[in-house]
Amino acid sequence: MEQQIIQSKRLKGTIRVPGDKSISHRAIMMGAMAEGVTTVDGFLPGEDCLSTISCFQQMGVDIKQEGSRVVIHGKGLKGFKEPAAVLDVGNSGTTIRLMSGILAGLPGHFCIQGDASIAKRPMNRVMKPLMQMGATVDGRENGSFTPISIRGGALHSIDFLSPIASAQVKSAILLAGLQADGRTSVTEPERSRDHTERMLQTFGVDIEIEGKKVSLLGKQRLKAASIKVPGDISSAAFFMVASMLVPDSCITIQSVGMNPTRTGIIDVLEQMGARLSLQNQRMQNFEPEADIEVHAAPLKGVVIGGSLIPRLIDELPIIALAATQAEGTTIIKDAAELKVKETNRIDTVAGELTKMGANIETTSDGMIIHGKTPLKGARVNSHGDHRIGMMLAIASCIAEGETVIENKEAVKVSFPEFFESLQMLQENE
Ligand code: S3P
Repeated sequence: MEQQIIQSKRLKGTIRVPGDKSISHRAIMMGAMAEGVTTVDGFLPGEDCLSTISCFQQMGVDIKQEGSRVVIHGKGLKGFKEPAAVLDVGNSGTTIRLMSGILAGLPGHFCIQGDASIAKRPMNRVMKPLMQMGATVDGRENGSFTPISIRGGALHSIDFLSPIASAQVKSAILLAGLQADGRTSVTEPERSRDHTERMLQTFGVDIEIEGKKVSLLGKQRLKAASIKVPGDISSAAFFMVASMLVPDSCITIQSVGMNPTRTGIIDVLEQMGARLSLQNQRMQNFEPEADIEVHAAPLKGVVIGGSLIPRLIDELPIIALAATQAEGTTIIKDAAELKVKETNRIDTVAGELTKMGANIETTSDGMIIHGKTPLKGARVNSHGDHRIGMMLAIASCIAEGETVIENKEAVKVSFPEFFESLQMLQENE
């Protein structure tokens, strides 16, 4: 399906974005592992999180979802049964990687696959440590790619030194570690998002965090919890940048998650010259949240790399768009992980924005963006990647004339009402 978008005169208003994707997945998984009734409010009913629900339902967990409310009747790890069919994760890397950590400790046989994008994404980063813990894993190229099969069972703890800063790797090992004998630890080169650590505490698990090392003792039981999911900062990022770029704009985004492992986007936009303020800062279930007000402002180029990258990895496509409108050069480095996301985002960002008039050089671990370049309407494509689709929609708001976005339905993965929310903010009279 295609979406036509014309240049916006300005954006104005107050909106909410859907629930945080990372937190929504974890709430379903931990609710399924816990004993008792877990309720989730503010759940993201996007395709990725619905894939998580259906995988756990296939394993016999009673989960009822209506819009953004979910009720999970957990029976603990003993409540899981061997699924009679392949578990389909759709487009969701978080589902396959975190769920594998849980399956590794369950007696039984589990087959997992996803869509064409999942088939290209590396799974060995998770499967290797799970094998070290005692799980039997197979898949294409020695367990590196889907379809993956896991025969779970008794696990032993490991001290894992992760070569990459990845919350998916860290979380999979911690979820396996919960079922293992002894103390499991994961040490990362840089700290990745810590929603698993925070939510495990909400479910009553003791967890130790010392710098870049996280550890927990196995065989702890999870107790059902009431989870309130904040708005997703990764979804809010599109409207934050839109409001900065469309002249005369001012928008407020309410109840956005402000976890410090996710707020790299705010640090970078402020460094670029953004006019934004955080209001009503508060805590919910160990997770901070706030309202964000953003005004249009002139921007300047910046250098983005190092420990900042894991704090804004999913926002790099929309930051790249902001950089096309900044005075001077923006360098994004140390971000080779972009190549193994839903698409190779170095190629898809540069390829699609170049069609609209941007000047972007690709590098082996990022991009060099020369600003400021006026953008013009063009025919562009999401390549089935939700964040590329949404970034291109915001690019269309500042491009002269009309833009057509092919494969617009990709946005349903994380933000089903994205185009409606954008329309609400547009004042094109
Ligand atoms: C996620 C972690 C990140 C992120 C992804 C969601 C998570 O991936 O890009 O969208 O929920 O744990 P990595 O952990 O592979 O960096």
